Amino acid sequence: MKPLEISVLDAPAAEVATPLLVIPWFEEERAMPGAAEIDGRMAGAIGVLLDRGDFRGRKDEYAVLYPREGEIRPERVLLVGLGKREKFGAEPLRRALGTAVRQAQRLGVAELAVLMPEAAAGVDAERLGQAAAEAVTLAAWEFRELKSQPPEDGPRVEIASLALVAGGAARADVQRGARVGEIAARGENLARELAARPGNLATPSHLASVAEELGRRHGFAVTVLDREAMRAEGMGALLAVARGTEEEPRFIVIGSMRGGEGEPPLVLVGKGVTFDSGGISLKPAQNMEEMKYDMSGAAAVLGALQAIAELDLRVNVVGLIPSAENLPSGKALKPGDVVRSHLGKTIEVVNTDAEGRLLLADALSYARRFRPAAVVDAATLTGACTIALGHHAIGLMGNDDALVAAVREAGERSGERCWVLPLWDEYRAQLDSDVADIKNTGGRPAGTITAGWFLKEFASEFPWAHLDIAGTAYLDDVPPYLRKGPTGVPTRLFVEWIRGRARQG
Ligand code: BES
Ligand code: MN
Ligand code: ZN
Repeated sequence: MKPLEISVLDAPAAEVATPLLVIPWFEEERAMPGAAEIDGRMAGAIGVLLDRGDFRGRKDEYAVLYPREGEIRPERVLLVGLGKREKFGAEPLRRALGTAVRQAQRLGVAELAVLMPEAAAGVDAERLGQAAAEAVTLAAWEFRELKSQPPEDGPRVEIASLALVAGGAARADVQRGARVGEIAARGENLARELAARPGNLATPSHLASVAEELGRRHGFAVTVLDREAMRAEGMGALLAVARGTEEEPRFIVIGSMRGGEGEPPLVLVGKGVTFDSGGISLKPAQNMEEMKYDMSGAAAVLGALQAIAELDLRVNVVGLIPSAENLPSGKALKPGDVVRSHLGKTIEVVNTDAEGRLLLADALSYARRFRPAAVVDAATLTGACTIALGHHAIGLMGNDDALVAAVREAGERSGERCWVLPLWDEYRAQLDSDVADIKNTGGRPAGTITAGWFLKEFASEFPWAHLDIAGTAYLDDVPPYLRKGPTGVPTRLFVEWIRGRARQG
């Protein structure tokens, strides 16, 4: 996919030469700023549509109007619903513009212009510009690389350009926001692409080569540890997971050091299980193919690093990706085995399907050497997270209230929302082992929290937050700006969090 060409126009919408002018519209409202002239020159066509009740501006609703020769310069007008004004914000605009992209593609139109809604309480023009560029960039993405034929109804048009119509003072703000939104969304699209690739293609070595390629392009320092190097490091928990498969594990260290020298870095850790069969504690066959998405955390780390470089953020960021495949075999890790982690704590593996926390334990321990300002990990860690929060929230935990609050706020701003779960001391007892320092599962109750507690045991020496993305990393039912499949979550959250830190610094 080519990068979307984005421009901001300070011109009357009626004078914009475009095949499709998109007008986001509030529910049950008679007028939108900038639309009165369009309606007037189209002999009141918008008014008629509203009077008839054929379009009310509800969420996900749309209507196409065709101006007659000479009325206005746009060839088509697409009204898209924003829902009620009281609920307006970045997310309703993302949804509306996702719908606009879908309609543009249906109409075979590759260029769109959007009459930008005005800033409101809680969303300034910069945020709206960002949301608009994000929505269009995300909505235009599609995973096609493994299809040998275009779909029956012909290849889908690639959206090539987006003009945001915003006048006066808002113009520069919209422009600034649009740049951020486009870059963040392309980072998220990279994460979606990696996650969409099946386990036979997106192997640990593949993730490593993508990291190396990003390194060449953006000047990152990239170090990749193989099995031998991991053994020398003492990564016994990660190596235990990798034992059951012929596929070589990798531990990827990727750093973007544009902050001050000696400035403590922010560390992002992503679970990179390229396929999770469960191992000897084998998963049921039903939906097991979805476990190719078990490297979504890793994918988001790579997507975020691309975006951070393209935004030229002056900040030190290290990405850590422990990556392996989890398969059963004659050599595989067994329930009851005890392994020694990188930190030195011994772990009784009572369930080989709780493999993500084993990889992450060693990565969190490895993070200590950077003396990080903060560490945030993302992992498709527990099915229990989906039971607790469904598909609409990331499970958030941590050992530092200020960091947890900052991550939660980044989630709100990006639309990748988090819900905080408690890591109370009482839950720790579920991980007590009779034979080792800790066991790797805590039974059915509060499975997401006990997984978080397990990680907390290895996140010593720095502020740390954990994102359980099991319910949000891939979706069947998606908002209009996404497609069924991987979401790229939490790439945009990472970018928002790091932008916030970079500004302060
Ligand atoms: N990758 C899975 C978690 C998962 C499940 C993500 C479903 C997305 C959808 C993880 O490795 C896992 O298997 N967790 C176990 C933990 C249990 C054995 C304590 C789970 O959730 O069942
Ligand atoms: Mn598992
Ligand atoms: Zn897993």
